[in-house]
Amino acid sequence: MDDLKAKYLGQIAEAGDENALEAIRVSAVGKKGEVALKMRELGKMTPEERQVAGPALNALKDEINSALSAKKAALADVALDERLRTEWLDVTLPTRPRRQGSIHPVSQATEELTAIFAELGFSVAEGPRIETDWHNFDALNIPGHHPARAEMDTFYMHRAEGDERPPHVLRTHTSPVQIRSMEKQGAPIRIICPGGVYRADYDQTHTPMFHQVEGLAIDKDISMANLKWVLEEFVKAFFEVDDVELRFRASHFPFTEPSAEVDIRCSWDNGQLKIGEGDDWMEILGSGMVHPKVIAAGGIDPDVYQGFAFGIGIDRLAMLKYGIPDLRAFFDSDLRWLRHYGFAALDMPNLHGGLSR
Ligand code: PHE
Repeated sequence: MDDLKAKYLGQIAEAGDENALEAIRVSAVGKKGEVALKMRELGKMTPEERQVAGPALNALKDEINSALSAKKAALADVALDERLRTEWLDVTLPTRPRRQGSIHPVSQATEELTAIFAELGFSVAEGPRIETDWHNFDALNIPGHHPARAEMDTFYMHRAEGDERPPHVLRTHTSPVQIRSMEKQGAPIRIICPGGVYRADYDQTHTPMFHQVEGLAIDKDISMANLKWVLEEFVKAFFEVDDVELRFRASHFPFTEPSAEVDIRCSWDNGQLKIGEGDDWMEILGSGMVHPKVIAAGGIDPDVYQGFAFGIGIDRLAMLKYGIPDLRAFFDSDLRWLRHYGFAALDMPNLHGGLSR
């Protein structure tokens, strides 16, 4: 028995990992291990011999088991120490935000305007970019023959041969999200929806994919005055100045009545774009009181509820705020441009800390 004890305690001391330890356990105190075999021999002994051998075997078994668990704990400690040593990280090091790229001006502008509208009580809604022709047009009071469909330079999706349903479209504006949000949420409602939209158009201030933020506020007593106030507050907060000059122009959209387009005063000297000065105007948004037919298409009673909607060009806002003269460069993925106009990844815009510092 002393030999057994010396042999196994020695092996346990030598074991290098948990697998080796388990193999020792099986051959020593497992069901068919050496100690078990010795226990079986007890039956052949005289009662006197058994009285001595029995407790001694049990004691041996206990001793081996506790040596095994002590060694197991020691091995786990070693493994943990090893992990702590190799997975070490100095959390006090300063960050290197520029190493991982930068935030695109469109994303930055979107974060900024979301922060502003959140403060004004608007929550963020979303809708699909591949839209039904009904949501993009009909529900917004633009029936099949309406000239606005042609004006919008719509991209139509392909339909299988023989499929008579109207094709889906790449949404030409974020206005279909008005319908989807009213359907989902009912009234009262106060949402914005930022996102990509598509029109076949390409020049210094137009690209086939660009970004808008839709706004919608419906309740029992919302008026054009509320619309004007919200837009002025927004523009002042976004451009971080008190004296941006806005021009509200009477306009027409099938889905609002009355309607207004809003331009912002700017100059384009020597390819430099500046806001708040000069004799040029840049159109940044369309807006108006939501047409009763549109409210009804969203499943809300237009005799009880009314409100305003607007659609702002996010890329245009970014161009004006950051003085970027050509919209096409926004989507060229030119690294030099991105490094120049991009924003540090760790600065989250908010109204208290500052939007774009
Ligand atoms: N959807 C319009 C556009 O893309 C903008 C708009 C939205 C106008 C909401 C009025 C109300 O031009």
